[in-house]
Amino acid sequence: MSTFDLLILPGDGIGTEIMVEVDRIISWFNDRGAHSFNTERGLVGGAAYDAHGAAIDDATMDLAQKADAVMFGAVGGPKWDDVPYESRPEAGLLRLRKDLGLFANLRPAICYPALAESSSLKRELVEGLDILIVRELTGGVYFGEPKEITDLENGQKRAVDTQLYETYEIDRIARVAFDLARKRGNMVHSSEKRNVMKTGVLWHEVVSKIHQEDFSDVKLEHILADNCAMQLVRAPKQFDVIVTDNLFGDILSDVAAMLTGSLGMLPSASLGAEDENGRAKAMYEPVHGSAPDIAGEGKANPIAMISSFAMALRYSCSLADEADMVEKAISTVLSNGLRTGDIMQPGKQQVTTSEMGTAILDELNKLA
Ligand code: IPM
Ligand code: MG
Repeated sequence: MSTFDLLILPGDGIGTEIMVEVDRIISWFNDRGAHSFNTERGLVGGAAYDAHGAAIDDATMDLAQKADAVMFGAVGGPKWDDVPYESRPEAGLLRLRKDLGLFANLRPAICYPALAESSSLKRELVEGLDILIVRELTGGVYFGEPKEITDLENGQKRAVDTQLYETYEIDRIARVAFDLARKRGNMVHSSEKRNVMKTGVLWHEVVSKIHQEDFSDVKLEHILADNCAMQLVRAPKQFDVIVTDNLFGDILSDVAAMLTGSLGMLPSASLGAEDENGRAKAMYEPVHGSAPDIAGEGKANPIAMISSFAMALRYSCSLADEADMVEKAISTVLSNGLRTGDIMQPGKQQVTTSEMGTAILDELNKLA
């Protein structure tokens, strides 16, 4: 029997509600007895700030370093609008990404057949959509220094963020994208702004070189990030894998999310480099945020969080069959007409967060 150590970080807002549904699925797997998941819990984001004045503490970071995978809910909310910038809830998430070295963020955008009508785009544009955004996650303007606001003492201030990439950072994310493309549609779009940014020039150069040297069997297209955003809403099915930097990846993945019907549907995996035993640090989180406007009302869609757990089964536990089972259960529940508010449509049955979780568990029982 294989054993896996998971660190559960529900965070803030709907993060705590959707994580309950993952807890139930973990218990379900534990009860079956084929694999065992040990869980530890910790605080992150505003919840951590309220408890000890930092968005994540060292003890929790320690647990994250040791875990096979971190399950992350969501952070933030208006309650913490006025906390110091260094302690804002998002700082906990960024520290996890940076300190665990999670440079590769995989954001699949799949349009479940049952949800083709929920998208703001026409059915024929999104039906069958299956794209993967590979976002660089530990570099770029999110972390580049200097990053500061200076008082110019003439009534003016100057704010600086630094967009910075070194060759190795582009090299390793490009390899992840090409590798994944080989297992899918064998096509990569590399997205940057080389027409105005030096980082874009280097990005284009490095991706082209890696492609030529090691991945010439994969089709590569270069696309400017603004055009990429436009093409995503014009004809999204032309894409297979999109590889891009931290900031463009943040934006393009929100665009891609809406193609699938709702931000509540999109999971993600953030992976580090493999060690000598072939194991990589990893964190799994929904692409959506803490949705403070609906928090505590049982309205949140737990599917992105549960699909993120399926990604953990696939990438951190090598349990592909179990991951398939969870994804199949989600797909069936949607085909059966169950919907949380964000994906509700006429004639469907609106359910709460926990009713959605129960329905997915019921399907798992049928599949087991
Ligand atoms: C995301 C989020 C984060 C980001 C925020 C919460 C810091 O938008 O994961 O896409 O910008 O990376
Ligand atoms: Mg984002």
